[in-house]
Amino acid sequence: DAGEHESFMHKEILEQPAAAERVMRGRLNDRFATGHLGGLNLDARELRAIRRVKVLGCGSAYYVGEMGATLIEELARIPASAEAASEFRYRNPIIEPDTLYVAVSQSGETIDTLLAVQEIRRKGGRVIGLVNVVGSAIAREVDGGIYLHAGPEVAVASTKALTNMFLGFAMLALQLGRVRDLSIADGRRLIAGLNALPGKIEQVLATEERLEAIAERLAAAESLFFVGRVRGFPVAREGAQKFKEISYRHAEAYQTSELKHGPLALISPAVPTVAIVPDDELVERNVAALHEIAARGGPLVVVTHDDVELQGLDAERVVVPRTERELDPILLTIPLQLLAYHAAKHLGHDIDKPRNLAKSVTVE
Ligand code: BG6
Repeated sequence: DAGEHESFMHKEILEQPAAAERVMRGRLNDRFATGHLGGLNLDARELRAIRRVKVLGCGSAYYVGEMGATLIEELARIPASAEAASEFRYRNPIIEPDTLYVAVSQSGETIDTLLAVQEIRRKGGRVIGLVNVVGSAIAREVDGGIYLHAGPEVAVASTKALTNMFLGFAMLALQLGRVRDLSIADGRRLIAGLNALPGKIEQVLATEERLEAIAERLAAAESLFFVGRVRGFPVAREGAQKFKEISYRHAEAYQTSELKHGPLALISPAVPTVAIVPDDELVERNVAALHEIAARGGPLVVVTHDDVELQGLDAERVVVPRTERELDPILLTIPLQLLAYHAAKHLGHDIDKPRNLAKSVTVE
């Protein structure tokens, strides 16, 4: 059982700093400022020959796959995208020999992801896995990969495995980048950022009480938006997914930039928005879009960095520590886990076993 913890999900949220340390242990090379991922089974020439990266996963693994694709494009400048593994093989995908396919799965047993892997390999493609469960079906099927070392994850809603998936992608992106044009200075900057992350995750977890109070207010709403842009959009998608799967409230993720092209019509005092607003290139545009929500009476929770100028916006501010810009998504994700968790708890739901869902779905 969950021991002294009120649920496995809560236990697993709190385990994230230790889990993050485990996934990085021995996998960062300081001398050459690169990732050192022994299990990829790809030498430097093969790493350099990769022209495209395609990430496949389901649910949270798909959303963290989008975060990972963004990291790979930013650090390695290789075109990268993520796709729901459940859809992949039904559009007769073109499998290319110079594409690296990455299958992401906590359990390693999700049938949709496994079938995508088998389809790729059947057509001669190369697949690596980001998998938590050692010896699982996907782990056995891939050409190489990165074990996540998150420890057993019991709650249906993924938390520590997802964090370690992100870190796995960061190390992979670093390694792909450092056989290309990512400088040693940038490599060092990222390694320092990665090493500091477990302590910063701890700092986010220390704000739980405040997040609990906000979550109780959000739980009263029948419908919510989660919005973000670029690095922040997969964070919003993951936040909405967590919220809907355990609180049973309608939570919809949207690009902040697209609000004005439709969903703004739904904004009212009854529909809160959780906005992801890191202090990045888009911060001013993001804040301007949030003023459009406030003008329609929409309650706002803004997940952001300290000193971000909200221009008088009437909003509840949730501050996460600064890190390297590329690594922002993971620190922005952690408060959303706690918002979903406390909303569900407040509503009295079975947090570890939400209705209609299974931890791993082994039928198509
Ligand atoms: C689901 C779970 O159906 O499977 C999600 O409800 C999870 O929480 C998804 O993200 C993928 O699971 P896995 O084991 O492949 O990472």
